[in-house]
Amino acid sequence: MPHRAPGSPGTSRRQFLSGKPIRYYRPRGSGEIRHLIDEGFQAFNAGRLSEACGIFADKMLAPENDTTIGLTVAGAMTPAGLGGCVIELMDRGLVDFIISTGANLYHDLHYALNFTLRRGSPFVDDRDLYEDGIIRIYDVLFPATVLLETDAYIREFLVRSKLNEAISTSEFHYRLGRDLIERQPGCEEYSVVARAALAGVPIYTSSPGDSSIGMNVAYHELMNGSRLMIDSNKDVNEVCAIVLAGKQNGCVILGGGSPKNFYLQAQPTLWEVYGIPKGGNDYFIQITTDQVVWGGLSGATPSEAVSWGKVNPGVLPDTVVAYCDSTIAFPLFCEYAIGSKHGRRARKDLVHKRKDLVAALVREAKAADEKRKVKAEV
Ligand SMILES: NC(=O)c1ccc[n+]([C@@H]2O[C@H](COP(=O)([O-])OP(=O)(O)OC[C@H]3O[C@@H](n4cnc5c(N)ncnc54)[C@H](O)[C@@H]3O)[C@@H](O)[C@H]2O)c1
Repeated sequence: MPHRAPGSPGTSRRQFLSGKPIRYYRPRGSGEIRHLIDEGFQAFNAGRLSEACGIFADKMLAPENDTTIGLTVAGAMTPAGLGGCVIELMDRGLVDFIISTGANLYHDLHYALNFTLRRGSPFVDDRDLYEDGIIRIYDVLFPATVLLETDAYIREFLVRSKLNEAISTSEFHYRLGRDLIERQPGCEEYSVVARAALAGVPIYTSSPGDSSIGMNVAYHELMNGSRLMIDSNKDVNEVCAIVLAGKQNGCVILGGGSPKNFYLQAQPTLWEVYGIPKGGNDYFIQITTDQVVWGGLSGATPSEAVSWGKVNPGVLPDTVVAYCDSTIAFPLFCEYAIGSKHGRRARKDLVHKRKDLVAALVREAKAADEKRKVKAEV
């Protein structure tokens, strides 16, 4: 058996890579899908998804509510082709910032760089794949060279960027997105990272070391002596500042994992740490396969989040969990939202407002601190 260096996909007689390329699907606001969701999805998780669509399209997107909307992404969504949904939402101003696992952003880069992931079967012999140098994410297949070449691009970007200090992940992804657009003109049509940079949508990663992007940043420090660091404190404060500035706040949570908490913890950071009672999230939509009974955060319900001050106790009717595979539910959800009367909003361009928002957080936190001191003296 070979050791874990990739085999050679070009020389195999097996046809693992003969499936159709996976393309980013772009929702268009189909009236038929809206009809199905309104009239056909009536009970159980179809009913919950219908409810989620209604909360998003009629309340969160309503101009008078001016909701700041965070999208969290976990699970293998970009490998499965769902990046196009995210691009469309960002482009239309329907999400204002994103918190994603590093894996989804890393795999998005393959599309930006024109590497092909293919439809395949989950019922293949992984020992054959291993010999042929093919990577499998359930039924998504691609040659290991895609990883190696994407990694090479990241390392070249790191050198080119001359980034040499501690920065937030939003800044890192913004710079990466600009670089992609410069080197692969037009890739903003099929890359979340590139489109986010263009649309002014900040992208955060809750666990920056946990992906091939983080692995290459670590390489850059060790091998090139770079002082580029991902500064999680900056991320925590920026997300907090964005939530603080929101007239109303709402989230769409895909899967669970650390992005879910990274979004939700902004409210406790405000009241528990900075002494600023913001009042909790106003809307909460989650599409997940995670269950509540295991006690994990991924499956925790909006009502459990109330006890933490993450969700406003008065808004439970505006919260919903649809227990579905996101690869099915999210494109339907996006079709519904895009076809609704609020299917386009002015973009908030938060990526360029981060500094001012954090300054406002500092001002409010200092004022809250003063109040605490005065109270303690009395
Ligand atoms: N090369 C890399 O950088 C790297 C690193 C980590 C993971 N990966 C790959 O990327 C994939 C995604 O990993 P990840 O860290 O983003 O998340 P993950 O696969 O660990 O999933 C996290 C959460 O999403 C939920 N979830 C997963 N699939 C779902 C679905 N279809 N519908 C609804 N909920 C779902 C899970 O229950 C969990 O709460 C992995 O399967 C792995 O193959 C790659």
